[in-house]
Amino acid sequence: MRKLILAVSLVASVGVLSNTAAADELALAKKSGCLACHAIDKKIVGPAWKDVANRYKGQDAKADMIKKVKMGGKGSWTEVTRGVPMPPYSPRVTDENIEKLVDFILAL
Ligand code: HEC
Repeated sequence: MRKLILAVSLVASVGVLSNTAAADELALAKKSGCLACHAIDKKIVGPAWKDVANRYKGQDAKADMIKKVKMGGKGSWTEVTRGVPMPPYSPRVTDENIEKLVDFILAL
């Protein structure tokens, strides 16, 4: 019984931890201006971040994503955006924070 309680509380605290991390990342996205055009699960101007994660699932997309957020660009989501480009974010957002945001998005 004791073991079970321990296991349950461990799972619960891991859940809380990852939610806190997501909240931090969302706050960073908000502060960086991303949420003007993106939401987790619906298209605003840019594609839903969940759709981005789904498209690149199982691929090694991180480096390309970082480049796209740094330099901006278009052409990957034309059918969703009708050709609106993603603006460049470097150096407005630090490399470290861009990597954090990309890790967060790709893990959705
Ligand atoms: C002015 C609106 C706008 C803002 C602000 C914006 N984006 Fe985007 N984003 C877009 C558009 C439009 C696309 C689709 C580009 C394309 O078709 O390749 C996009 C695409 C993306 C993609 C997918 C790229 C790909 O190649 O599949 C990621 C990841 C992304 N944005 C992250 C971010 C992050 C992180 C921020 C904040 C630092 C941000 N965006 C801010 C409009 C925006």
